[in-house]
Amino acid sequence: MEYGLLIIAYLLGSIPTALLVGKWLFQVDIRTLGSNNPGATNTIRVLGKKAGFIVLLVDVGKGAVATYLPILFHSDLDPLYTGLMAVIGHCFPIFAGFRGGKAIATTAGFLIVYHPFLFLITFLTFFTVIFVSKYVFLGSISVGFAMLIFSLFEEGYHTDLIFFLFLLLLFFLHRSNIRNYMNDTELKINDKKLKDD
Ligand code: G3P
Repeated sequence: MEYGLLIIAYLLGSIPTALLVGKWLFQVDIRTLGSNNPGATNTIRVLGKKAGFIVLLVDVGKGAVATYLPILFHSDLDPLYTGLMAVIGHCFPIFAGFRGGKAIATTAGFLIVYHPFLFLITFLTFFTVIFVSKYVFLGSISVGFAMLIFSLFEEGYHTDLIFFLFLLLLFFLHRSNIRNYMNDTELKINDKKLKDD
């Protein structure tokens, strides 16, 4: 049962929303546009707010539903694991050649169900960092820091190692953003960039 739920969570996370929205509604491959990232941020950037909002909603929903699975099936499995399996599916989707997004929207869905207060803290941090820096990737990485710091300080909350690994994963997923930032070519929140620019 436990393994079954973990697999379902991974498959749910693997639904490549940005790719499907790009292909079905715009006949484009989002992975060839803007930052090439099949996620909500890049969809907003190159395909507009409506398309981006759909992607955001579904990607958040994947994380939330996956986290809810153990409760739904009356399983003893910690929802932490199904939530994180959805995040892994989102980042390394079996349905899209293991080239997925950068974790954040699905992590939001996971946290909304798993720990609403932690969700509030992390996403306040996310928006504050973006507001100040104008770089979405910095906001995204700050989510990992906020989760780790919170887990270190909250008594009886034994997820420190998992959230540390999650932070490393965020650095790995954002390696091209970090490289671009160093070269002064990283896109800011209001930058639009299409394939032929
Ligand atoms: O949450 C996505 C963000 O961290 C980076 O997206 O498209 O700017 O690489 P992007």
